[in-house]
Amino acid sequence: MQKARNLAKELKNYLLNEEEGFFIAKKPLKTKKAETITKKDTAQKIVPKVKTVVKDKAVALSELIEQIKKCTRCELGKTRIKAVPGEGNINTKLMFIGEGPGFDEDRQGRPFVGRAGQLLDKIIVAMGFKREEVFIANMVKCHPMKEPNNPEKHGNDRAPNQEEIALCRRYIEEQIALISPDFIVALGSVAGRSLIKDVPTFSAIRGKIYDLNLTYATPAKPIKILATFHPAALLRNPAWKKDAWADLKVLLAAMGREHKSQTNEKQG
Ligand code: URA
Repeated sequence: MQKARNLAKELKNYLLNEEEGFFIAKKPLKTKKAETITKKDTAQKIVPKVKTVVKDKAVALSELIEQIKKCTRCELGKTRIKAVPGEGNINTKLMFIGEGPGFDEDRQGRPFVGRAGQLLDKIIVAMGFKREEVFIANMVKCHPMKEPNNPEKHGNDRAPNQEEIALCRRYIEEQIALISPDFIVALGSVAGRSLIKDVPTFSAIRGKIYDLNLTYATPAKPIKILATFHPAALLRNPAWKKDAWADLKVLLAAMGREHKSQTNEKQG
């Protein structure tokens, strides 16, 4: 009896670790040899299944990252310094999707690490999360430049074009389907109009919750998506910050997190 209780306790702790998104278990669960498992040890039988599912997701995402790093489907793959696949908690409920890497991201291989990224970090905290709790990615994985022959030039960023978005689309869709968050924030017009609806004006879709429909991948469960201003747009037009915050409060309400949003009302 005591043995069964210990097993149940061990399983509960293991599952709690998985729930928190730390998919690499620090302390592997002790396993018995198959032939010693008795009928009473039903909990023990669940463990390998949970482990396999979690591990497959991590493996599939790392394989995708390797493909992205080698990709030259479009011209951006030929001029980039580093591909920027995305980063964060692969078991998150909340994902942020921007348009494409800029100068700093191209050099570091990480999303949103420049000035717009610093503002995104503040937005994430204002929403009641830590950056490492969410997943951050972009519609295209390599730096779109106005002058690709002049990569050291500052102010050389541009939005990805339709062809680049189309050729890169499978990557973000597969990431979404594997991570399977409950909610996505599309940052700016490129992500919003690519993932929600290609409308002539971004304001037609901003601040509303939609059901996400993907073309190439099928997430395990329905995902809600809301678009708001891109942090770079907020740096150019600080007056839009209050509208962005109003949009994000719609999302927080849908997530059942109104309380946290109120406490962060004054965040810059
Ligand atoms: N802008 C984006 O859309 N993505 C980044 O990663 C950085 C800036």
